Amino acid sequence: MKQIVFNQPGDADVLTVKDVPVPEPKAGEVRIKVKAAPVNPSDVVFIQGVYGISPQFPDSPVGFEGAGEIDVIGTGIGSGLKIAQGQRVAFAALGTWSEYVVAPAISLLPIPDNLSFEEGAQFFVNPFTAVTMLDEVALKKGDWLLLTAAFSSLNKMVIQLAQKAGVRVIGTVRRTEQVQPLLDLGAEAVVNTEEDSLADRVKSLTEGKGVQACFESVGGDIGTQAIASLGKDATMLIYGLMSGEEAKISYGPTIFRTPTIKGFWLSRWMEESSVRAKARAAKQVYNMVKQGDVTLDVEKTFPLAQASKAVTYSTQSGRTGKVVIQCG
Ligand SMILES: NC(=O)c1ccc[n+]([C@@H]2O[C@H](COP(=O)([O-])OP(=O)(O)OC[C@H]3O[C@@H](n4cnc5c(N)ncnc54)[C@H](OP(=O)(O)O)[C@@H]3O)[C@@H](O)[C@H]2O)c1
Repeated sequence: MKQIVFNQPGDADVLTVKDVPVPEPKAGEVRIKVKAAPVNPSDVVFIQGVYGISPQFPDSPVGFEGAGEIDVIGTGIGSGLKIAQGQRVAFAALGTWSEYVVAPAISLLPIPDNLSFEEGAQFFVNPFTAVTMLDEVALKKGDWLLLTAAFSSLNKMVIQLAQKAGVRVIGTVRRTEQVQPLLDLGAEAVVNTEEDSLADRVKSLTEGKGVQACFESVGGDIGTQAIASLGKDATMLIYGLMSGEEAKISYGPTIFRTPTIKGFWLSRWMEESSVRAKARAAKQVYNMVKQGDVTLDVEKTFPLAQASKAVTYSTQSGRTGKVVIQCG
């Protein structure tokens, strides 16, 4: 079978297509014929060798999530899981940019009929992060939530979920054409940081009180202004670093408003959470996707052999949805 691998950290051009044996599922695992897998920012930094998990050379596989059809069911899987050959499933596993992959049967999520494989392939990383981060900050109706890089696939989900819960979202973008779509999605205000001061806008929108929570993924000046926008006892979850630049902490507001600033990494959450907590999040994700509470936008697809082009395309600014690799 064909699999995308790389042998040194770098940009898209380190990726190659390799012929490797089709993997055999062990006890408790299934083999999936992969149909689609997205290119997420975590894949890009994994290939660059600067992610929280390091690639193992030679021939490191790529891709952390995907969607496909169950091909072979391994031994030792109880009938309680209700899985069947040919079933459409989403999964998280390393090496999804491949024609086949094995994954633990217990981790599979069925793809609702209303979703394509390209949409279903985005079922894990961003939806679980959106649900889990919102759960972690536990906002009430009327609270303010600040989202930096609000037009990201992840934040578009967060906006839709927050709006449903009556939470007021302030989002940042750096392109004018991204303002109205986010207002249409349910954001209360969208600040174009190329034109406006984020700290000033938050101050005026929240009548000087600041926001109750912030999900921060940009860093640099935007991150600095986001920290300065935190209200009394607010929580900031730092979960990405799109600008590559560190932010500064304003000491005054930090001393007097006593916010909590901490990191969030879904992999850690998955490792450390109970089976029950994961099942609850999975149920929430499944229901919100099935009911159409959130959209899983696809901008462009590439065949597996063009994974390198897909990665390059995914790093372009101004995309409206995910770049997805069609694996088979
Ligand atoms: N920690 C975790 O567990 C976890 C889990 C899921 C996702 N994430 C992180 O969440 C972030 C979003 O993921 P995604 O899949 O939703 O990404 P995405 O759909 O590719 O969107 C990326 C967004 O970031 C914006 N952006 C890029 N560089 C920027 C910069 N220098 N300044 C301001 N905005 C910038 C882009 O805006 P333009 O259109 O203007 O370029 C775009 O809106 C990523 O950092 C990802 O690593 C983390």
